[in-house]
Amino acid sequence: MFEDPFSLYIHRSNNKRHLTFGNGPHICLGAPLARLEMKIALEAFLQKFSRIEPVEGFQLEENLKASATGQS
Ligand code: HEM
Repeated sequence: MFEDPFSLYIHRSNNKRHLTFGNGPHICLGAPLARLEMKIALEAFLQKFSRIEPVEGFQLEENLKASATGQS
């Protein structure tokens, strides 16, 4: 669906065509809550860190944890 999918690019013209929350009759009921939580989290993050940059040579696949919170 997305060209160059491993690059973070928040201005893709087809951004809204993602399936993060599923689609159709079983689309995620919690999507509005999840979006609100992410908005709050990102705002808090941006208040704390004025500047972020990628770590050179960082290998994502070698640093993945078993769960999103880092706990297994
Ligand atoms: C980033 C967070 C979340 C993601 C990525 C996500 C993703 C999904 C996806 C892909 C589905 C569809 C599964 C399917 O097609 O069968 C789904 C369904 C569902 N989600 Fe979420 N979800 C998230 C957060 C939440 C939250 C916070 C809640 C509740 C507070 C929630 C409640 C549900 C429920 C009840 C369904 C089933 C809907 C149905 O079968 O009719 N989700 N979610």
